[in-house]
Amino acid sequence: MFISASAAETEAAGARLAGTIQPGDVLALVGDLGAGKTQFVKGLAKGLGSTEVVTSPTFTLVHEYQGSRLPIYHFDFYRIESLAALRAIGFDEIVFGNGVSVIEWADRFAEAIPPQARWITFEMASEDQRRIDLSNFG
Ligand SMILES: Nc1ncnc2c1ncn2[C@@H]1O[C@H](COP(=O)(O)OP(=O)(O)OP(=O)(O)O)[C@@H](O)[C@H]1O
Ligand SMILES: [Mg+2]
Repeated sequence: MFISASAAETEAAGARLAGTIQPGDVLALVGDLGAGKTQFVKGLAKGLGSTEVVTSPTFTLVHEYQGSRLPIYHFDFYRIESLAALRAIGFDEIVFGNGVSVIEWADRFAEAIPPQARWITFEMASEDQRRIDLSNFG
């Protein structure tokens, strides 16, 4: 657990984690609106060598970024209505594939998250501080 004091620091934490990522990794992100999940994914994608702009998936429900080693699949379960909708976008194929999957609001459909996923929680500690807990790495 650590406190990030700025959006840039949260991004840097994502970039640092990128160095540990292996093919097939699943990162399950949990935290309220504005807690810093997307900021973290920005750093992760950069750290994996992507130069693409990272934004929360809306209509397409999943964004794919090309890293230098691996593709990154970015989901946001906030936008997903049901398990059926999740299945329909090919979640299972992607999450059991060889890219890295990163899922915002993963707790909304926790039953769809594979057991090897690493859970990361984000909490707002103050306007600019976020408590980030990477200890639930299963
Ligand atoms: N320490 C910090 N870490 C991350 N973001 C911060 C921090 N301090 C302030 N912020 C601001 O908080 C917001 C975090 O937004 P972000 O989109 O990453 O949240 P989110 O968790 O993805 O929310 P959502 O559930 O809406 O997708 C940004 O506007 C960012 O600038
Ligand atoms: Mg977000």
